[in-house]
Amino acid sequence: MTDPQAETGPRSETDPQDAIDAAADAAGTDRDLRIHERTAGEVPDPGDAIPFIGAGPGDPGLLTVTGRELVEAADLVVHAGSLVNSELLEAYCADAERVSSVGKDLEELIPLMRDAHEAGRNVVRLHSGDPAIYGAALEQMDALEHEGVPTTIVPGVTSAFAASATLRTQLTLNGVANHVAFTRPQGTTLDPEDDHIGEFVGMGDVTTCIYLGTHAIPETMDRLLEDGHDPETPVTVVYHASWPDEDVIEATIATIGEAVTDAGYRASALVVIGDAARKTGYERSYLYGDWANRGSAATDGTDAGEADD
Ligand SMILES: C[S@@+](CC[C@H](N)C(=O)[O-])C[C@H]1O[C@@H](n2cnc3c(N)ncnc32)[C@H](O)[C@@H]1O
Repeated sequence: MTDPQAETGPRSETDPQDAIDAAADAAGTDRDLRIHERTAGEVPDPGDAIPFIGAGPGDPGLLTVTGRELVEAADLVVHAGSLVNSELLEAYCADAERVSSVGKDLEELIPLMRDAHEAGRNVVRLHSGDPAIYGAALEQMDALEHEGVPTTIVPGVTSAFAASATLRTQLTLNGVANHVAFTRPQGTTLDPEDDHIGEFVGMGDVTTCIYLGTHAIPETMDRLLEDGHDPETPVTVVYHASWPDEDVIEATIATIGEAVTDAGYRASALVVIGDAARKTGYERSYLYGDWANRGSAATDGTDAGEADD
């Protein structure tokens, strides 16, 4: 019989769940003292910590300056597989060892990064978009910290923002959408009772951005129809936002399922529900209207800092 360890390398001796539980216990009592160690844009000294970097939605130009600097200095880049554009890896870390995290569990990933860090190699962890959105970064960070390896986060451009730019719109739009929901549909990870897409759509002035739901668009739309939502509600699907093969499908709750099935997309798309994607019916903003015309009184206005930018 094959020894699985021989094929996959060393596995963690510590149960990563213990690290998560320990971090939760500590967080429950004291303030996390690491919060003030570094601001989000500050570059950690290579080798001091493993940075968890948002690679952005795909286009190499949408990696932040800080992220690029760290990736260029890396010896080992652990990345999120096909969600990270190989053009970005070629452009910024062609000489580094590159390992996809796809199909690897925490028991394999943690020692891989820990051992490389302890051997003095510069390790970076590249997540797609921003690690804070459906990134599963924290469990890796807690497990590494539990084993004495410092970690840090460098934010990235989440795919909803790339989709919004592609559509030449805003996710919040005066008179149309005052709120944005980042959400996912029910499935293996989410129980049906925790699927809130229908509630967000029902609120009306919300732009609902569905991640991880490309494969389930027809079923998701069927549920919205069964719940009595307007079949004409705009739904826009942005496939591979910012990639060379980017595609946009504009339809409605009633028609998007068939359109996406016909296009053959089963992953890597963002579903945007709401009028903001169509840019119709919005009103001019207070910022460049009444507030701007208040003259000197505007400088002492109490809500000056609260206007849109
Ligand atoms: C595991 S989640 C990671 C999200 C990522 N952390 C982010 O901030 O964009 C993967 C999902 O993000 C969305 N996604 C990622 N990259 C995308 C892109 N370039 N265009 C459209 N959707 C994308 C898809 O919905 C995909 O199923």
